[in-house]
Amino acid sequence: MAKYIVRKSDPLRGQVEISGSKNAVLPIMSAALLTEEKCTILDAPALKDVEIMCRLLEDLGSEVSQDLENNIVEIETKEISTHIASHELVKKMRASILVMGPLLARTGKARIALPGGCAIGDRPVELHFKGLRALGADINVDGAGVVRASADSLKGANIYLDFPSVGATENIIMAASMADGTTIIENAAQEPEIVDLATFLNKMGAKIKGAGTDTIKIEGVSVLRGAKHNVIPDRIEAGTFMVAAAITRGAILIKNVLPDHVKPVIAKLKECGVEVEATDEDVIVRGDVNPLISTDIKTLPYPGFPTDMQSQFMAMLTTAEGSSIVIETVFENRYMHVRELNRMGAHIKTEDRCAIIEGKAKLKGSQVVATDLRAGAAVVLAGLVAEGETEISEIYHIERGYEDFADKIRSLGGKIEKVED
Ligand code: UD1
Repeated sequence: MAKYIVRKSDPLRGQVEISGSKNAVLPIMSAALLTEEKCTILDAPALKDVEIMCRLLEDLGSEVSQDLENNIVEIETKEISTHIASHELVKKMRASILVMGPLLARTGKARIALPGGCAIGDRPVELHFKGLRALGADINVDGAGVVRASADSLKGANIYLDFPSVGATENIIMAASMADGTTIIENAAQEPEIVDLATFLNKMGAKIKGAGTDTIKIEGVSVLRGAKHNVIPDRIEAGTFMVAAAITRGAILIKNVLPDHVKPVIAKLKECGVEVEATDEDVIVRGDVNPLISTDIKTLPYPGFPTDMQSQFMAMLTTAEGSSIVIETVFENRYMHVRELNRMGAHIKTEDRCAIIEGKAKLKGSQVVATDLRAGAAVVLAGLVAEGETEISEIYHIERGYEDFADKIRSLGGKIEKVED
């Protein structure tokens, strides 16, 4: 299995181009199942998760072509050949559950195993079921965890989500786009990826209003057509490089980022003494102007501080002056990186959903594990400032979600190598 070897590096400097958003492209690819016509997705990042989604769609009957060089994915689904999603693929990626809404809308049936993905706590899908049931689907889960859903027809409904789940909001929007009548989702997720999905669906002919607010209204239509769409930049990749500038006390020009999407990250970096200047689609981050100081963070659904940035920030805070408190409210078990960072010499204590980070740690190179995607990014960032050499295993997690991560870091002067074990 491949590993990263990361060595203590000089401050990262230069410019980096952010790729299309992983969390936006996956639901958009799934939405392409809703039409017989060809959909063209531009700025699709070349990632393992995108490849898994390509295979999943092919299994369901789509013709898929992925141009890795030019970041284009084309999907044409003249016919759905099966409503059964391959267990093998579904267990590799949690976002596979997103084919459920489109399958139900197009064929009236869906069979899918409960999904896998990052091990960041119990990740139930009952809100997806609650929404799809409200639209008229009959859903049963057997003892082996296989979900069978069917619906003679889908009908618009009023749905209140107990928590603004991103995936549940996406599944419901996709199914409701082709339901009879109007659906209103209350307490909907407001993430930019929801807006991007709604924009794509509206290009296909859907009638969705309010995406990006907590109330989304969908008037069902009977047919959707093919569409062409550019995926939004990945705000979590952008945030990760912003933290890379701060933790290494460097200066990076981050290109292709929508500053509005990274507002909480910018605000928290500024609290830490980092200088951030945002223009239209670029952000300059300077960690070389002021000393890095501690801050407190509480993760929340958008527009709050993103849970997907928590581990990278924590890595940075271990090196800041003073103590910081982090509270993770979105996932109940998202502190697996704490053990790895402590192994590198950090001083972090956790109690339930709260972590206390003592600053000014002298990080030292160690053997650590990328326990999940974002935790993996955190140990890479820590490795860049740790004395000596950090060996990171299970890096396939990182490659699931960051396009050319090691190459981009190297282009900024970071010392990172991928080696085959
Ligand atoms: C998406 C993102 C992921 C991000 C997360 C939160 C994708 C592909 N992944 O994941 O990177 O970390 O949003 O911003 O877009 N929950 C329930 N019941 C449900 C659904 C969710 O209790 O039916 C809980 C989950 O256990 C979790 C929380 O809600 O604690 C957030 O989950 P959700 O917003 O659904 O995240 P995902 O869509 O899985």
